[in-house]
Amino acid sequence: MASYDLVVIGTGPGGYVCAVRAAQLGMKVAVVEKNATLGGTCLNVGCMPSKALLHASEMFEEAGHSFAKMGVSISAPKLDLPAMMNFKQQGIDGNVKGVDFLMKKNKIDVLYGAGKILSAGKVEVNANGKSQTVETRNIVIATGSDIARLKGIEIDEKRVVSSTGALSLAKVPEKLLIIGAGVIGLELGSVWKRLGAEVMVVEFLDRILPGMDGEVAKQFQRLLEKQGFAFKLGAKVTAVDASGKMLKATVEPAAGGAAETIETDVVLVCIGRVPYTEGLGCKEAGIALDNRGRVQIDAHFSTSVKGVYAIGDVVAGPMLAHKAEDEGVACAEIIAGQAGHMNYDVIPNVVYTTPEVSSVGKTEEELKQAGVAYTSGKFPFTANGRSKVNQTTEGFVKVLADAKTDRVLGVHIVGREAGEMIQEAAVLMEFGGSAEDLARTCHAHPTRSEAIKEAALAVGKRAIHM
Ligand code: FAD
Ligand code: NAI
Repeated sequence: MASYDLVVIGTGPGGYVCAVRAAQLGMKVAVVEKNATLGGTCLNVGCMPSKALLHASEMFEEAGHSFAKMGVSISAPKLDLPAMMNFKQQGIDGNVKGVDFLMKKNKIDVLYGAGKILSAGKVEVNANGKSQTVETRNIVIATGSDIARLKGIEIDEKRVVSSTGALSLAKVPEKLLIIGAGVIGLELGSVWKRLGAEVMVVEFLDRILPGMDGEVAKQFQRLLEKQGFAFKLGAKVTAVDASGKMLKATVEPAAGGAAETIETDVVLVCIGRVPYTEGLGCKEAGIALDNRGRVQIDAHFSTSVKGVYAIGDVVAGPMLAHKAEDEGVACAEIIAGQAGHMNYDVIPNVVYTTPEVSSVGKTEEELKQAGVAYTSGKFPFTANGRSKVNQTTEGFVKVLADAKTDRVLGVHIVGREAGEMIQEAAVLMEFGGSAEDLARTCHAHPTRSEAIKEAALAVGKRAIHM
């Protein structure tokens, strides 16, 4: 029987990063993966394919609508959807190969098959009707998450799709009805909107992007509406009739009331994700789950069974690839006897639409609810030189700082490249920096990042360009 220091079940960003860090620390490591390719949701049907389509569709949109005003005259761009899907697939393949390479480079054994925990120290790997059992001193569960389903609405991944089907539609739907105005709905809605679909989003709550700063969400909704998105807030889809040529969705007010029927070509169900532990043997092995089906862990990623740890989407916290990766690193370090640590207060969050939305730290709503006295500094991109010359002035930066200490508690951006810009705020917050620190840091000119400096200056009511 093969034996290891660590067996990681699942090779998403949590699992493969944990395996690499453990190997770096001298452990003999194996990963178990039930899919044919490594990389998990993120590389195969999540972050990477969605970003490839967001990039390609944005180029299509720009070529069709923005080039002419810059004096770049071209004939109207034509969509070649199979070629765009091929571009997406090449991106996936390149990244998956990268993980294969990392496994080889770090001498990590890859065991293809479904992993089942028999007990602490024993993992069974099942593939094609055959099974093998490996021994290991430690186990990390990194089995990720799956799509959340809506009762009574069957996903066929052709006309009624989850994010997975929405990444591979065979043609641009004339009408796309999206259930859920969260990250997936707005990102994948943007892709198909740019490629020509009429997009309507039905959202249960009275706002989009729950969890993001309210002011940001409001302005972002207006920008999306300008792009042609239609929103039905405070509403729910209760049924989808797929018997005819067009789908018929029944939409009701969230609080109940008269229903209406909306005809559409495709329905995208994106109402969140749920932890994935199917077939893992948690119950039999005595590994406790919480009331939402997540593997329960303590502050050191340890489950209720000694020697079994869990990280990533399958445990509590934001379902984000970088959160899973950082947990993977910290967990490997703890297993190696080091002081691995994860700061849950500084996890950036990005929506990769145009414009992008990004945030790190607390929102105004959270600060108000916690009774924290704070000062807010805001700076619009309309007053930022680089944004003006590029004519991409939509959005703003908002810096929230503690009213007494000036320590930065949250930064929120809506605007082009917001996803790249947020990182400096994250670094500042990791070091417990103040708005004054940010405001006194020299920023290259002309950059969009100068808007962050100006928003930090605005905390002290001394923005220069406003
Ligand atoms: P996963 O990536 O889900 O990997 C789990 C792996 O475990 C899978 O490969 C699965 O096959 C395997 N597995 C499960 N059970 C077993 C078993 N019993 N035996 C063997 N293998 C098993 N996050 C971001 O931060 N940025 C983004 O831009 C972003 N975009 C996204 C877009 C979409 C459309 C979706 C769906 C998600 C997106 N996410 C994004 C979320 C991100 O994909 C997840 O947070 C991340 O993949 C979680 O990593 P993980 O390692 O915990 O699990
Ligand atoms: P989400 O949690 O972001 O949004 C789901 C939305 O659906 C919410 O607004 C919710 O109120 C709404 N909703 C729930 N039930 C509903 C119902 N019955 N009818 C109408 N609306 C309903 O979930 P989403 O978009 O599915 O994404 C899943 C996760 O994947 C995200 O939470 C995020 O962690 C991750 N992700 C991250 C991305 C990024 O970082 N850029 C991109 C895509 C996904």
